[in-house]
Amino acid sequence: MNICVMPGDGIGREIVAQALRVLDKVGAKFGKKFETQEALIGGCAIDATGGPLPEETVRLCKAADAVLLGAVGGPKWDTIDPAIRPERGLLGIRKELGLFANLRPASLFPELKHACYLRPDIVAKGIDLLVVRELTGGAYFGTPKGVEVRDGERVGFNNMIYSEHEIRRIAKVGFEAARKRRKQLCSVDKANVLDVSRLWREVVIEVSKDYPDVALSHMYVDNAAMQLVRDPSQFDVIVTENLFGDILSDEASVITGSIGMLPSASLGAGNPGLFEPIHGSAPDIAGQNKANPLATILSVAMLLRYSFSDMDEPAAAIEAAVQKALQAGYRTGDIREEGCKLVGCVEMADVVLANL
Ligand code: IPM
Ligand code: MG
Repeated sequence: MNICVMPGDGIGREIVAQALRVLDKVGAKFGKKFETQEALIGGCAIDATGGPLPEETVRLCKAADAVLLGAVGGPKWDTIDPAIRPERGLLGIRKELGLFANLRPASLFPELKHACYLRPDIVAKGIDLLVVRELTGGAYFGTPKGVEVRDGERVGFNNMIYSEHEIRRIAKVGFEAARKRRKQLCSVDKANVLDVSRLWREVVIEVSKDYPDVALSHMYVDNAAMQLVRDPSQFDVIVTENLFGDILSDEASVITGSIGMLPSASLGAGNPGLFEPIHGSAPDIAGQNKANPLATILSVAMLLRYSFSDMDEPAAAIEAAVQKALQAGYRTGDIREEGCKLVGCVEMADVVLANL
């Protein structure tokens, strides 16, 4: 089993190094052998090759069974030509691998209740939702796009565009995911204003005919943003387009109080999936052994579960080891609390490894 590993920038290298220790250990424990190959993406790729997504990286990713990513970007590349920003590397590999479905689970670890930003009576109802974000369409990739001069002033524009087949395939992912959970799917759009959203809603309703066992609801994106903080317990699976999903998944993750805890999976039909923590490259704490490695370690669990048919058990073992580390009171700075055992990135991974 061949895994392409892209540490990327900032804290990416430290957290991925710890996640790979966990992968090794779980491989040894369950008798599986993982080959890993490292590839460049983002700022480090710009420094080494002049662009954020070298061809060699695309080749290595396509040849792998799965891809593990740390994070990309940092202040060093903030003033660079927008066409080759580090983020372009991430968008590029999503497109190259056809990773149209981004699964972002946001659930509250009972051990981390204190870190939650919401009122205790709201938290008491629980948070366990999954954002299914469309990842290769919409305003992120639509054309025409650009900035040009019209009538003597600059005009900027992007195009939020979806074809039926793109909506249908992500809707199916949403329904399938809901089927395996609490059987509630909320499709988020802006159908009261946007034409593209009207089509989105029509197609989602068409797809729902094949899923009579799943309760489908629709919500406008502005209301969804409000409901997420008012009562997140009402959500099971949310399916939405790329830009809305980008925004709502940040909101959904941060209300759990622990963006440093949450993994994600980006999947496409027939290609290796890409697994990464939801958080970014955190340049302010990079290289200081302060980063929380748990989101990346949990991304390895998702990688095993979604990329291989026979790895539910190792995946569950990783998740259990993470939970035990939290139960034993170990915390990195982002989730610290009174009386906890404050540890760094390496030490947190040590505790997870010990529990494995
Ligand atoms: C994310 C990030 C990316 C996105 C950026 C880094 C391009 O915010 O994965 O949510 O906007 O998709
Ligand atoms: Mg984002």
